[in-house]
Amino acid sequence: MSVKNKNQKQPSTETVSNEPPPMSRRDMLASGASALSGLGVMAVGGGMMASTEAFGKAGSKKPLSGKVAIVTGARANMGRAFCAALAELGANVVIHYHRKSTKKQALETSRLVQKAGAKAVLVQGDLGDVKNVKKLYDTAEKKFGGIDIVINNAGAIIKKPIAQFTDADFDKLDRVNNRALFYSLREAAKRVRPGGRIINNGTSLLAGAAPGYSVYAGTKAPVEEYTRMVAKELGDKKITVNCIAPGPIDTPFFHSQENKNSAAYASRLSAEKRLGKVSDIAPLVSFLATPESQWVNGQTLFINGGYLTR
Ligand SMILES: NC(=O)c1ccc[n+]([C@@H]2O[C@H](COP(=O)([O-])OP(=O)(O)OC[C@H]3O[C@@H](n4cnc5c(N)ncnc54)[C@H](OP(=O)(O)O)[C@@H]3O)[C@@H](O)[C@H]2O)c1
Repeated sequence: MSVKNKNQKQPSTETVSNEPPPMSRRDMLASGASALSGLGVMAVGGGMMASTEAFGKAGSKKPLSGKVAIVTGARANMGRAFCAALAELGANVVIHYHRKSTKKQALETSRLVQKAGAKAVLVQGDLGDVKNVKKLYDTAEKKFGGIDIVINNAGAIIKKPIAQFTDADFDKLDRVNNRALFYSLREAAKRVRPGGRIINNGTSLLAGAAPGYSVYAGTKAPVEEYTRMVAKELGDKKITVNCIAPGPIDTPFFHSQENKNSAAYASRLSAEKRLGKVSDIAPLVSFLATPESQWVNGQTLFINGGYLTR
């Protein structure tokens, strides 16, 4: 059974102008642009400059030039940082956002992509509805000519004991954490071009247990299984499929379920005794998107500052 939101039925698609409006340095940092610092990208006086250290000589072709990426759940936070990071490497980006009311945030993401010199298209919709997933992939092909990189980042969370979970609560999590992933992977298997990349955002809870997270962890657990199985299915096309498994990240997604004390407790579990930041995660996605990662395939990569290991 699925939960339907009548506001989400019709996906909207919008190509965003490549003329970025000015953005202050503060705005950029608040919106996730700081994620680029780990990629050899610097924020300079309100603008961004790609450093030449990370990827060859000045003027050399960017590693993802000519590539097209889809990033789901990218209105802000990790998804936004992934969009910006991939754009810095040269990819054009299809930016998915969920609720119509968050369009302004999605536009901020597109501004970061444009700042990096890449093109952006916005697609809105609930990805628990297969029509919207197909629309996402159709848009990438129609606007940019194909699909090379898919970041399945959208997800939902509710922390409470399983005994208190309603069917509607379960559907809300299952709809995106599991069903939407299946829809997206099925499209990706048909449409991602040879040599492509599929990166799925899982959770470090795979390596541990936390009270109240049974249904969240349960609905996210398929991310790992799909990853390793689909990797085998797509190997002939040299498409790699990997799962990143972040620990607690300092975003509203995490804080919405925690209080000050429990957030502080989670912080203390990392080796540096802090929460992760989106800027800790984006460089791994960048690496997995580039040709150098070809031999990393079917893996779950824990990225959590030592929070949990296995
Ligand atoms: N933050 C953490 O501590 C943490 C740790 C490990 C893994 N993760 C994973 O990282 C991913 C990104 O998390 P984040 O912290 O960056 O938070 P976030 O920005 O809230 O990301 C979740 C995204 O998924 C979208 N979404 C929710 N339901 C959807 C649906 N039915 N269809 C399409 N999109 C939907 C949300 O859109 P709306 O807001 O409009 O609903 C949001 O943009 C998630 O998959 C999460 O499970 C997070």
